[in-house]
Amino acid sequence: MTDIVEKLYRTGDLTNEEFSALIKTDDESAAELLKKYADETRRKYYGKKVFLRGLIEISSYCKNDCLYCGIRRSNKSAERYRLSREDILSCCKNGYELGFRTFVMQGGEDSFFTDEIMADIISEIRRSYPDCAITLSLGERSRESYKLFKEAGADRYLLRHEAASPELYSRLHPAELSLENRKECLFALRELGYQVGAGFMVGAPFQTVDHIICDLRFLQQLQPQMIGIGPFIPHHNTPFAEEKGGTLELTLRLLGILRLMFPRVLLPATTALGTIAPNGRELGLMTGCNVVMPNLSPVMVRKKYDLYDNKICTGEEAAECRGCLQRRIESAGYEIASERGDCVSFHNA
Ligand code: 5AD
Ligand code: FES
Repeated sequence: MTDIVEKLYRTGDLTNEEFSALIKTDDESAAELLKKYADETRRKYYGKKVFLRGLIEISSYCKNDCLYCGIRRSNKSAERYRLSREDILSCCKNGYELGFRTFVMQGGEDSFFTDEIMADIISEIRRSYPDCAITLSLGERSRESYKLFKEAGADRYLLRHEAASPELYSRLHPAELSLENRKECLFALRELGYQVGAGFMVGAPFQTVDHIICDLRFLQQLQPQMIGIGPFIPHHNTPFAEEKGGTLELTLRLLGILRLMFPRVLLPATTALGTIAPNGRELGLMTGCNVVMPNLSPVMVRKKYDLYDNKICTGEEAAECRGCLQRRIESAGYEIASERGDCVSFHNA
């Protein structure tokens, strides 16, 4: 099995059979070697740097009904909120003072945030913080809308593809959502000059190793600047309440594989990973991750952005998360980089 890891390290690719064997193996020495090479590779391109992204969760209203997600529209017990323009700008101000140079505005698909309203907020942030990157994570919108946001000053867009297998995609989403449209959005974003992030959940209900290989192949095709993966965690008010969650081991295995397949990619140690294990994010950093996304949302609303159960950091102020993460990053042997943190392979940013 270690020869498969050697091959992945040397060539950045494997056959489907080899990927399958590496994903499934319980060979400890292969897992250790994968971790070692993943860390070596991230250090080669990024050194010890860990980039911070300040996450502002702008709305928990969502018109979609993804079966796994706690803020799906059918969840009538979800508490809904949306931040005002002033709330969002004050999160940015707070974040800037704490050293953040990337703001990520994420939310459910909330029709309150029309193109005009969103473009106005983006241009205001662009004007106030010319040295910061503006990232959006607002789901599927029209190409025109993406274009308008780009012109208003957005640099990056995060849109996990969620599942590249049409069969799995349709078991995780209602019929009105399609993988085809999701992919079109991602290719449109790339074409418009955004730095793009895609990704998927690990251990989602019905997910098999073949589905995961399908995700890896799709990522090879898209070549995103960022890849966000984290364990699926059941939410008690969704149809998947009784399903098993994704494991720490499989998530780390895939993070290591992704680092070797995409040596220069930005790879976040996600909040979901920190939720399933107290040291999950530190282990992620030691397995190739180089980004963390601390929460900048007002503490008042944090519990309401309730995608999955037991989400961490919902009681902390932004400054506390910043301090907590700094300690965690340093304890894992890395250091916070106070810069925008663009992907080293992205040249037309
Ligand atoms: N468990 C883990 N991740 C989830 N997401 C949504 N619901 C869950 C869940 N139950 C992820 C999706 C989405 C991102 C914002 O959060 O992949 O793209
Ligand atoms: Fe938010 Fe530790 S990162 S409290």
